[in-house]
Amino acid sequence: MPILKDVYPLYLANEAKQPNTDLEVTDKFTGKVAFRCAQADAATIDAGIAAAVKAAEPMARLAAYERQAVLMHCVTRFTERFDELAYALCVEAGKPIKDSEGEVGRLIDTFRIAAEESVRITGEVQPLDIAARAKGYQGIWKRVPIGPCSFISPFNFPLNLAAHKIAPAIAMGCPFVMKPASRTPLGALIIGEILAETDLPKGAFSILPAHRDGADLFTTDDRLKLLSFTGSPGVGWDLKAKAGKKKVVLELGGNAAVIVDHDANLDDALERIVFGAFYQSGQSCIGVQRIIIHESVYDKFRDMLVARTKTLVSGDPKDRNTFIGPMIDVKEASRLDGWIQEAVAAGATLLCGGARDGSMLEATLLENTPRNTNAYREEAFGPVALLSKFSNFNDALEEVNDSKFGLQAGIFTRDLFKTLDAWDRLEVGGVVINDVPSYRVDNMPYGGVKDSGLGREGVKFAMEDMSEIRNLVIRRT
Ligand code: SIN
Repeated sequence: MPILKDVYPLYLANEAKQPNTDLEVTDKFTGKVAFRCAQADAATIDAGIAAAVKAAEPMARLAAYERQAVLMHCVTRFTERFDELAYALCVEAGKPIKDSEGEVGRLIDTFRIAAEESVRITGEVQPLDIAARAKGYQGIWKRVPIGPCSFISPFNFPLNLAAHKIAPAIAMGCPFVMKPASRTPLGALIIGEILAETDLPKGAFSILPAHRDGADLFTTDDRLKLLSFTGSPGVGWDLKAKAGKKKVVLELGGNAAVIVDHDANLDDALERIVFGAFYQSGQSCIGVQRIIIHESVYDKFRDMLVARTKTLVSGDPKDRNTFIGPMIDVKEASRLDGWIQEAVAAGATLLCGGARDGSMLEATLLENTPRNTNAYREEAFGPVALLSKFSNFNDALEEVNDSKFGLQAGIFTRDLFKTLDAWDRLEVGGVVINDVPSYRVDNMPYGGVKDSGLGREGVKFAMEDMSEIRNLVIRRT
């Protein structure tokens, strides 16, 4: 089993620094301190931003093959350190080891995609002679790096959601400062350790765990040209209000829905929905929260779901048989426990689960949950899913849209016309047919509408946000 160190440094202007060991990070299953790391104060964050500003020009001047080489170095080193990275996630996030390994695989994909994209940043030649006054004029536009970026990454995918900011920044030639989640900083710090092995220009990156109270500069500092935040909707929209003139990208939460139509392959839908609702204890922005089932298959599918959910093994995330590990902390588990109790008091039926021991919450299914409850309206971000019944497909689409969120939706159907209707009408960033909303591959556009966010990640799309279009107009005389 890979061993973690006792103490980890932060990365300031590409260099490891250990000004203190202030941040205690616990093993989320045992609750014991697993390691400590350095925490940045406001002066350190300021120094990281100043270094990023200085690095903007040398980063922009790097040739495409040089940016690609940095990204490919990371791919190689992540592959060599695969087991250590998976173990780090398992400890710091309480993520079951198989899910942790899956995340390391995705980290490697994300950097590999960025390496490929780094050598195909193109522009367009545009004839401008659309009217007599433009005769003889021609345009050409290209993308240039936006400049120093600020990244704030969340606890639920400590590696891959940090990677979705870091890898496109390097591919595009932008320096950055990053604040990883305080409860799970190690994933991003190991990425920093590997980046420090490269010859990126000094100041190209700073990875700075910081207490939320001291971290305003990541949002407010005007020297930063873009803020990319992944995390809770409340925090994200609040940061946007404080971000001043910089561009803001928000990847926030949701209460994702899946529709199971009468023609669905129920055995297949069962496995995918149980996975989508309960993997990493439901702590995914696109975890299945609402399961909307056609009336003709409702009773049968409900019984299948309940029986399958009861078989999920919960316990120590380091055990390869474990499917349900702890939630990130007792506070979060207790918050969701309260929402389950509130839903039951309001008339919902508890089909299975519902018990909690500290941060371990059972996989829980509810039916007939009133729409005005927290469990229905808000983002559960835990192992709870709600069943409801529909008779008309249009009503099912309306139920999906009856949410302030709009990240992804899934539909189990074999009907092309319903697929196209759903694609037109669902207020989400992505529709997934014959799979759960929780499905994501790292090159696809990913992001939400309504309260779920602004902008898209998925390397190529993040690179667009991290660039500006610069036009050239030529008059031929
Ligand atoms: C998220 O929780 O927003 C990310 C989900 C994923 O990358 O699979």
